[in-house]
Parts: sequence; C-alpha cells; structure tokens
Amino acid sequence: MTSPIRFLMCAPDHYDVDYVINPWMEGNIHKSSRDRAVEQWHKLYNILKQHAIVDLVTPQIGWPDMVFTANAGLVLGENVVLSRFLHKERQGEEPFFKTWFEENGYTVHLLPKDLPFEGAGDALLDREGRWLWAGYGFRSELDSHPYLAKWLDIEVLSLRLTDERFYHLDTCFCPLANGYLLYYPGAFDAYSNRLIEMRVAPEKRIAITEPDAVNFACNAVNVDSIVIMNKASNALKASLTDAGFRVIETPLTEFLKAGGAAKCLTLRVTEPIDINIHANVSVESRIIRLEGHLLDSGVINQALDLIVDGGGSFQVMKFSLGEQRQSTSAAEVKVSAPSHEVMEEIISGLIDLGAVDLPQDERDAKLVPVVQAGVAPDDFYVSTIYPTEVRINGEWIKVQNQRMDGAIAITQTANGLVAQCKILRNLEVGDRVVVDVQGIRSIRKNESREQRHAQEFTFMSSGVSSERRVELVVEQVAWELRKIRDAGGKVVVTAGPVVIHTGGGEHLARLIREGYVQALLGGNAIAVHDMEQNMMGTSLGVDMKRGVAVRGGHRHHLKVINTIRRYGSIAKAVAAGVIPSGVMYECITNNVPFSLAGSIRDDGPLPDTQMNLIKAQEEYAQLIQGAEMVLMLSSMLHSIGVGNMTPAGVKMVCVDINPAVVTKLSDRGSVESVGVVTDVGLFLSLLIQQLDKLTSPYVASVG
Ligand code: ARG
Repeated sequence: MTSPIRFLMCAPDHYDVDYVINPWMEGNIHKSSRDRAVEQWHKLYNILKQHAIVDLVTPQIGWPDMVFTANAGLVLGENVVLSRFLHKERQGEEPFFKTWFEENGYTVHLLPKDLPFEGAGDALLDREGRWLWAGYGFRSELDSHPYLAKWLDIEVLSLRLTDERFYHLDTCFCPLANGYLLYYPGAFDAYSNRLIEMRVAPEKRIAITEPDAVNFACNAVNVDSIVIMNKASNALKASLTDAGFRVIETPLTEFLKAGGAAKCLTLRVTEPIDINIHANVSVESRIIRLEGHLLDSGVINQALDLIVDGGGSFQVMKFSLGEQRQSTSAAEVKVSAPSHEVMEEIISGLIDLGAVDLPQDERDAKLVPVVQAGVAPDDFYVSTIYPTEVRINGEWIKVQNQRMDGAIAITQTANGLVAQCKILRNLEVGDRVVVDVQGIRSIRKNESREQRHAQEFTFMSSGVSSERRVELVVEQVAWELRKIRDAGGKVVVTAGPVVIHTGGGEHLARLIREGYVQALLGGNAIAVHDMEQNMMGTSLGVDMKRGVAVRGGHRHHLKVINTIRRYGSIAKAVAAGVIPSGVMYECITNNVPFSLAGSIRDDGPLPDTQMNLIKAQEEYAQLIQGAEMVLMLSSMLHSIGVGNMTPAGVKMVCVDINPAVVTKLSDRGSVESVGVVTDVGLFLSLLIQQLDKLTSPYVASVG
C-alpha cells in the first residue's frame, strides 16, 4: 500500500563516524559496522516503503552524515528552507541537498551566511499543521526562526534545548497525528516546557522517561497511526497503544553511534499547507551597547552568559577593542529572545551590567499609573542596587533612594519630575511606575585593572588560603575602619547573638566605645544575650568564662528581659546602673543609635525591640543612610535585609561561619563586598588586635 506521503532518504554507502560533533559520537570514531548499518538502514527503508513513497538522494564520498536527511532542510508545501550547518564537517552536504530539492521542483530559500539552521532536525510541524515547533540552543540559531515564519508563512514556536545529548529538536520531540506529542521534558528549559504545556493539552502529551529518551524513542517516524522507532519500553508502547498508535521497532544502533535514529534518517518532503494558517513569530531582537573596560572587568563574558543562560541568543555586531590598558572597549550585541517575557528578563540583567540602547533606538520609559495604593502595575521594573536613570520626555533623570527590589515611581513635584525607588507598600495612587525594560539605564563604572586594584578589597584574588584570607580581610577592614573614623564617616554594624556566644561581645563593645561604629542594627536576641552576659556572666545560661552550663541558667535571659522591662528601656536600665558594660551599654553611653527588629520567636520582647516590622524596616533604612561601610556579623536575616536596602557603592563585609550566607551577600561583586567564612568571635578579636597595632604610637627602637 502506498499513500501520497513521500520521504527522502540517503543510503549509508559512505556512512561512518568520522568526527565528533555531538556527545553520541564521542568514543565511537570508526566503531560502527558498515554491514550492520546497511542492514539496519534497509530494514527501516522497507518498513517505510510499506506506508509511504521513499525517494533517494545519492550518497557522497566524504560526507558520512548525509544519511541523516532530516537535516537537509525544512519543507512546507513547495518551499524549502535549506540547512546551514553549524559544523564545517557537515557544510559540504548543503549543495547536494540543494540540487535534489531544485531538481524536484521546490523553491529553495537560503539563509544568510553564518546563520545556522539544521532543517527538519530542528523544526517539526505540528501534525495538524497548526504551527511549527523550532529548536535552538545547540545547532540552529534562534535568529533563523523569523526567516522560517516569513518564508513558510507559519507560526513558529521556539523551544530551547538544554541537554547536549538532545542537541536537535527531533532527538527529544515528536509531534504525532491527532494532536498528540511524544517528548522528553528533561531536554528543555522551564520556559519551553511551559510553552509546550500551553499548546498541547495534558491528555495529548506523552512525556517519556530518560531511559526511553536515550534510546531515541522520540526520534520516531509517524505515518498516520504507525510510529517507527529504534526501541521503546513496554510502558511507552502501552501509552502509545492507548493513544491509538501502533509502534514498530526496528534496531538502529549503528546510527545511534552518530547521534541519530529513525527520524534523522528520513525527511518528509510532502508537508501539506493549511491555507488558514499564517506567519506569526514571537522572536524579538534588540541591539544593546556596552562600553568600558569590557574585557578587563569580564563584563562582556558576563553579558553573553546572561543572554544564553536566560534563554536568548546573541550576535556580536561590533566590537572595538581598547588597545591600551587604559582605553575602553565598546560592543554592540544583538540579543534575540523567543518572547517578550524572556527578552525583558534578559534586558533587565543587561541593564544591571550597564547596557544601553543605540542612540537611535532610545525611547522614553513606559509609565503606568498606580491605581491601588501599595500595588504596582504588573510588569513593573524591579530596581537594583546600581545607580539608575530613566528617560522621560527625552531627558534622562536620576533615580533617588536607590535600593534593591523596589519599583521606580515618578511623581510631579514643585521642582519638576522626581524619580525614586519605592518599596511596594509606599506606592501611592497617582504615582506613575516604570514598567517593561525600556528607557532605563544604570551607571556602571567598569573599571580598568589598575583602578579596580586600587579600590577593591584586593585580597579577593583567588589562590589565598582561608586562614591567610581571614588575616588579610582583618588587615584591610581595620585600615578602612580607621580611615572612616578619622574622616568622620559612618560605619554600620549588623550583628546577631552569635557575636555574644562566641565571645565577640567585648570586642564589639570596644569598637563602639572607640568610635568605629555609628549605628547598630540587630534583633531582640543580641541585646538580650549581651546584657545577660554583662549582668549575669552567662550567655543563654552558659558560663562565658568556664564554658559550662550553669544550673537554672537557661532562665537567665528571661530574668534579664524582665528587669529591662521593669525599667522601661535599655537606656533607663543603663542610667540606673543595672547594666555595667557591654555592647548595649556602649551604645547608650556613646550615643550610638541602634535598632532592634523583632521577630516571631522573640521572648519578652525588650521594650526597645520594634515589633512593628514596617517601622523596623524604616528605622533600619534611616540608620543606613550615608553609611560608607556595613559590617555584617553573623546575622543572616538582618544582613540580607540591610543588603537589599543599601545602594551600590557602600562597602560590605560579611562574616559568618555559614558559607551560604557569605556567598549570598557577596555576590554584589568584589569591588563592594567581601565575605569571610570564619568564627565571628575570632574575627572580632583579630580586628581589635589589628586596630591596636594601627593606632599605637610608633616607637623607634634605637639600637
Ligand atoms: N552526526 C549527525 C550530527 O551530529 C547526526 C544527525 C542526526 N540528525 C538529526 N536530525 N537529529 O549532525
């Protein structure tokens, strides 16, 4: 029986694994048996011939992968988009396929040079003809998709492949008759999986497991109700049978060694056109410009990684390299993304890196008014720690109160338009909020190597052992503390109770007494444990001198809280002489402001603890203003809170025994933050010693 369906195949006369261009070929060079390959190929050919017409293209010496005709091009009706192979190993196949298509009456479309697209291996029609699924990520470039939409006049849905074993879309994705889809979800990124789920109803999706996927079960040829593949598990066969398909297995192990199976060995050349369907492609492109010490600072790599990791693709249009060490470079990069949503995500990351539009593409920021107090419009731009400007009526205006995770609100004041970062709850009806990612830029100084080394916490350089690193951090922090104090600057400390448990209390107290600290931020616990230690000699009931638990000691901290409550505040208790020394004592006696933010687990709390968290956030924000350095001592919650409120340019030092906390806080980049994983008590004691060294008068030893 034959049907008008036609396929194109190419006999394996010259088939072999000659090179490695996908993970399946690794270790398989010249390991496939020609005889077995020929036998397996003929079996497939014979099966297919029972269900369709099979045309043949002449195999060519020197082009071993030509058997994989799926990669010849993409056919729809009379039109063919010829493949442009990514790897030179296969580029020589192009003219032979082109000739075959032309001789058989197709109109052949040629993609621009250097724009890879690997034909039906990466582009699969929905079997109802409703749209085209197109893959990218390994072989075909996302930018080829708009051409497919244009030439074939069909909607293109772009799917990003993320597992290199499934480098072509047809290795993990197979649309079947009646709207079914056989696929391996693990091969796609989250966004693509969501797209698939939006287009294909759950009862039509046949998701396969990894063992079936690595047997190339998705690399199947579907003609009406039959599905031909290398191999399928019983479970998979059962689900296909339930869906009304008949599975025909035919071993293709020799071709698996080159990374292909049934579908790769065939190209369907009769693909009917649905006249009601028209082009539609959501692929968006935008050109951004980066300037500065792009190579020195690693910004260009960061930018390109960000684009690809975010699900987009890029093309570097121009790159002018600064030749001298002090001269800057400039790059123009075309960014493409499969949808506006993905584009927004990528562009916001690029804005953080300092990317700007080309002058001719500059637009005003998009503004949407707030209609419900405390609620931003959907799609609002989320602010970052970097100095930002927004373009309004053709003018760039600087955003005030820069902080992370806010919205940018524009308000009309007597002195003109004001742009400022506002946290959600502070948005007022009538504020206009920046949405989308248009007309926004952030000012990043991509410093040269020299500048960076002059300012950076230079010990960040890798290759420093962790003990030596602690010493180096201590030296540098001591130096900064002294500089800031002598210049009348501001240092803010956030501290957790661990400071007290590890014996760091007396050192922190000294820092405060000697004028190195201008504000203290913490919670109920640090204050309680500090006062417990200074009033009763224990910390959470443990004797701080001997390190042993004191009988009944666990109640000490409640007694302390109770006492302070009786006096009405820490200040009044200090005034009454109840607290003789310690961190809180020094804050009170030296007029160093503090804020204690409450939490659900607080005992008491102390009268000074701010249990209204919104108020506490406000107090924190106020105390941080104008800080040049924030020293974060073992308090994940308070430190992260502070990190979010603090604009770029403030030095941060985070000390914690838990590496995760340190990493979280030091991803602002090495110029502004440094993390040390160590015991905070030890850190403070070293810091005090170092400050003593720096401040003791120089005594010349005369010999
Ligand atoms: N060795 C070939 C390559 O890496 C295999 C192609 C498989 N074809 C396919 N449509 N998946 O290009």
